[in-house]
Amino acid sequence: MKTYKIAAIPGDGIGAEVVSAGIEVLQALAKRDGSFEFLVDDFDWGGEYYKKHGRMMPGDGLDQIRNHDAILFGSAGHPDIPDHVTLWGLRLAICQPFDQYANVRPTRVLPGITSPLRKVNDKELDWVIVRENSEGEYAGVGGRVHQGSPLEAATDVAMFTRPGVERIMRFAFRLAQTRPRKLLTVVTKSNAQRHAMVMWDEIATEIAREFPDVTWDRMLVDAMTMRMVMRPQSIDTVVATNLHADILSDLAAALSGSLGIAPTANLNPERHYPSMFEPIHGSAFDIMGKGIANPIGTFWSAVMLMEHLDENPAASRLMEAIEQVTADPRFHTPDLGGSATTDDVTAAVIDAIRGANV
Ligand code: IPM
Ligand code: MG
Repeated sequence: MKTYKIAAIPGDGIGAEVVSAGIEVLQALAKRDGSFEFLVDDFDWGGEYYKKHGRMMPGDGLDQIRNHDAILFGSAGHPDIPDHVTLWGLRLAICQPFDQYANVRPTRVLPGITSPLRKVNDKELDWVIVRENSEGEYAGVGGRVHQGSPLEAATDVAMFTRPGVERIMRFAFRLAQTRPRKLLTVVTKSNAQRHAMVMWDEIATEIAREFPDVTWDRMLVDAMTMRMVMRPQSIDTVVATNLHADILSDLAAALSGSLGIAPTANLNPERHYPSMFEPIHGSAFDIMGKGIANPIGTFWSAVMLMEHLDENPAASRLMEAIEQVTADPRFHTPDLGGSATTDDVTAAVIDAIRGANV
């Protein structure tokens, strides 16, 4: 029996509701499979922890989770604390030291869910966005001076390193190569951002030579938003900078029918550190505690977690269970236009995992 140690960090808002649902589903999966088990440690880090201790996580927090096999994260964001404090104090405080430089965001229109794009189904919208997760505007370079004076000035410097761009480009080409269409779109803004983005384009051309079987093209990020809406079928795998892909992935999530179903993996592909899996949706304080948060984004993230652990049959079983459940509108939460609760959806997915036909 294999044992996987999972660090559960629910964080703020609806994070607690969806992460506990995610853990229930993972445990059901382990039970059904029989060849592995999960040991789950819970960490109460986040906004409430900050109010008590003046920081989002303890000083030795990274050491507490360094030896776990994976991290299941809920969300960071609290109405009483500025967003940049919660982000830099928890999510980025884990992603950056653990060098989770590849952020992977699949998008599909799942069965039973309607895209706001007319007549689009999962055959026409099946993308993976690869977001560079360590550099760009999120590198933390910049400063603010002369606050309160008319001379006030501020910079956020987008920083890109050749190794940082090469590794994400190679990751994206490799991922595109594993997908049936072997198609990669490299997104930049190399007309306006004439230094780093031009370097991105050059590095893309260099790395492409290592992957002669991958077809690739280049897009400026503004034109990419149009293409995502007007010609979704023409896209498969996408690679973009931290900020550009942040924006594109919200559009992608909306086009797939709801931000509530969108998953993400923050990967350290070399496995020197644990990787972190989380729904994209954020803390959603407006619906916190109502029991109506959509847990599908967390379940799909759990699929990515299982894939990362190389438990591929269990990962497919969970994905099939998710698709069986989304296909039935009785299990749609309010973000999908239904009236199901988090518990209803969780119970249905667990039933599907147990079911003989999944
Ligand atoms: C995301 C989110 C975060 C980001 C927020 C919560 C800071 O939008 O994961 O896409 O910008 O990275
Ligand atoms: Mg975002």
